[in-house]
Amino acid sequence: MASRPLVRVTAPIALLLLGVGCRERRSVPPAGGYEEHLSAGGLAPPTAKLRNPHARDKRSAADGATLFTAMNCDGCHGGGGAGWVGPSLADGRWRYGGTDGALFQSIFDGRPHGMPAFGGILSPDAIWKLVTYVQSLEPPADVPTERWP
Ligand code: HEC
Repeated sequence: MASRPLVRVTAPIALLLLGVGCRERRSVPPAGGYEEHLSAGGLAPPTAKLRNPHARDKRSAADGATLFTAMNCDGCHGGGGAGWVGPSLADGRWRYGGTDGALFQSIFDGRPHGMPAFGGILSPDAIWKLVTYVQSLEPPADVPTERWP
């Protein structure tokens, strides 16, 4: 019982010190790189660490090819993803990255310059099949180098 007044005195001091400690830590600028990116919507998008569960599976690539037409991906990216109003997905060059996670994110969240988000329309499994299809595309022998306005 005798320790209670002591707690009453020391607890606020301890809290104050803790608060000062936190404030000091917060004043340190954040490090340059960070892995856990949070989008403006507050949802953590899939990170580059994601692995395609259908990687190099031929049947999944065929399913992805069907989806590519059914979802009108080819309406923008051209037949075989060769490029049209949307960039080529077959030339081995990427605006946002060709890793499993980057491709998944391009399709799931969309990209700012005209790529719609399919995350709410397609299941993650269907998106992985599209990723498998896109990754199965062979770079064409002749890669156009024009810059489209
Ligand atoms: C309305 C037209 C349109 C449709 C439909 C569309 N895309 Fe796109 N897509 C684009 C455009 C334009 C970009 C480039 C976006 C940018 O640069 O910000 C893009 C970007 C991408 C990228 C990133 C390419 C890179 O170089 O990093 C991928 C992958 C992709 N689309 C896949 C798909 C798939 C798969 C579908 C179908 C489910 C699809 N797109 C449907 C227009 C479209």
